[in-house]
Amino acid sequence: MSVASHLKIRTDEYDQQILTFIPFYDEILDAAATALDALERPAKVILDLGTGSGALAARCLARLKGARVVGIDADPAMLAMAEQRLGKVLTPVVGHFESTPFPTCDVVTASFSLHHVAEPSVKQRIFRKAFAALRPGGMLIDADCLTAASPRLRARHHALWRDHLAMSHGAAGAKKFLAAWAGEDTYFPIDVETAQLRKAGFVVDVTWRRASFAVVAAVKPRA
Ligand SMILES: C[S@@+](CC[C@H](N)C(=O)[O-])C[C@H]1O[C@@H](n2cnc3c(N)ncnc32)[C@H](O)[C@@H]1O
Repeated sequence: MSVASHLKIRTDEYDQQILTFIPFYDEILDAAATALDALERPAKVILDLGTGSGALAARCLARLKGARVVGIDADPAMLAMAEQRLGKVLTPVVGHFESTPFPTCDVVTASFSLHHVAEPSVKQRIFRKAFAALRPGGMLIDADCLTAASPRLRARHHALWRDHLAMSHGAAGAKKFLAAWAGEDTYFPIDVETAQLRKAGFVVDVTWRRASFAVVAAVKPRA
C-alpha cells in the first residue's frame, strides 16, 4: 500500500502531515541521529529501511560526513521525495525490506517503518539480515512506536497520541486515524522488540523514550 493511501494524504503533504500524526516526531528523529555519535569509527554506508521522504537520512548525513545512503522503500513516490531532498548521496532502491538483499553497511536506520511488519518471525529475519549486513562495530537504529508492558501505561500513552492527533484533526478524526492504523500497523512491546534484536546478536540500549515512542540503538559487537 502506498503511503498516500495508508495515511490518507497526498505524498507531497507527508512532511507537514507527519508532524500532526506523530507526537515528538522531530525530537525522535533528532535523537535517532544523535545516537550515531557513539559509533566507533566513521561510517561510509547507511542503509535506511523505509526511507520515506528522507527526513532521518538527512539528519544522519549531517552527522556522518562523507557517508552515503542506500534507501530501501516500497513506495516510489516517497523515494522520489527523498531523492529531491538528498540528491546523489542517495541510492534509491524500490523494494520491500523483507525481500530486498541488504548491502554491506556501517549503519542501519529505520524510523516509523518497521511497524509495517506484523509477523514476529519476519521481523526477526529482518534483524538477522541487518546484523549480517553490518560491519562489526556497526549500529542499527530503530525509532518507532514501541509499547509499554503495563496495560495502564499503554492506555495513558494511547490517550496522549489521541490528544496529539485531535489537536490537528479533531476528536473524531483522531479516533478514525487510530482505528485505521490499528488495523494496518503492528506496535510491538519494547521488551519484545529489544529481545528480538538481542536474539539476532546485537547489544541493545534504549537511548530515548517518551510515552510509547522510543529510539533503540543496537550495536553489532566485534567478535
Ligand atoms: C511512515 S513512513 C516513515 C518514513 C520515514 N522513515 C520517516 O521517518 O518519516 C513508512 C515508510 O516505510 C515504507 N515501507 C512500509 N513498509 C515497507 C516494506 N515492507 N518495505 C519497504 N518499505 C516499506 C513506506 O513506503 C514509507 O515510505
